[in-house]
Amino acid sequence: MTELSQTALLHELEPVVAKNLDRHLSMAKEWFPHEYVPWSEGRTFDGPLGGEAWSEGDSTLPEVARTALIVNLLTEDNLPSYHHQIASLFGPDGAWGTWVGRWTAEEGRHGTAIRDYLTVTRAVDPVALERARMVHMTAGYSNSHDSSMLRSLAYVSFQELATRISHRNTGRITGDPVCEALLSRVAADENLHMVFYRNLLGAALEVAPDQTMRAIAEVLEDFQMPGVGIEGFTRKSVTIALAGIYDLRQHRDDVVAPVLRQWDVFNVAGLGAEGEAARDRIAAHLDGLEQAASRFEEKRDARAAKLAARA
Ligand SMILES: [Fe+2]
Ligand SMILES: [Fe+2]
Repeated sequence: MTELSQTALLHELEPVVAKNLDRHLSMAKEWFPHEYVPWSEGRTFDGPLGGEAWSEGDSTLPEVARTALIVNLLTEDNLPSYHHQIASLFGPDGAWGTWVGRWTAEEGRHGTAIRDYLTVTRAVDPVALERARMVHMTAGYSNSHDSSMLRSLAYVSFQELATRISHRNTGRITGDPVCEALLSRVAADENLHMVFYRNLLGAALEVAPDQTMRAIAEVLEDFQMPGVGIEGFTRKSVTIALAGIYDLRQHRDDVVAPVLRQWDVFNVAGLGAEGEAARDRIAAHLDGLEQAASRFEEKRDARAAKLAARA
């Protein structure tokens, strides 16, 4: 089977983009970041305005919630990098261009809303946060998919759903109904983003089944969250996993498996040898994830039991 070029794929998928853009615009609810921030709780900080510096005691959020909020916010902050990657791949024209602009604006709203909340409620150290943002954005973001549209589409299908789950669970763990409401609102956007990309890749499976199946296999095999470049990311993601905000079990059961099911990956007909081989790799990957998730759960349970015994 001959491979479709990037240009041919873009062209083939353009009507699907247009249709899903319309769907997105009809379903997305307009909302305003400022309505989700408890402004009257705010106090002027030190510096030019001579207020009070942030101190540890200002924050009422659990440590792990703060860690997750910082990771989630820095991920949203790095948006220009993702925008660059997606825009240079999909181009500025037509429905593709409109989608990329719209998507970028929505992600920008997420960063604004979360930062305003964190600053006003003094939930995290604003100086450390700004320094982390500078480091993270200076490094930028790139992944191994930025030369392939199919891999990029597959990646964001999983990643947007992962982000949705992470925001939602972070909200729950803060114990603050205001923060929970904000992050649920953000998570609802991420879900629509996921649906958009997932529908597109679903169409690609029909247009170029072998190529698309291979792209899915490749993306799953080296999947990393977009926050991977954040300083101390490994340590932070362990904390986040131990708290059940985003762990391997959720990654397998709530992200990878449902998206694959929506694409009906294991029943796609008409695959060539290459597509069949890729599908086998996807099945093997799911099995591997299952084992890793079970191992992780056992370790987490053992750790919890040890901590309980000590207390
Ligand atoms: Fe977002
Ligand atoms: Fe998103």
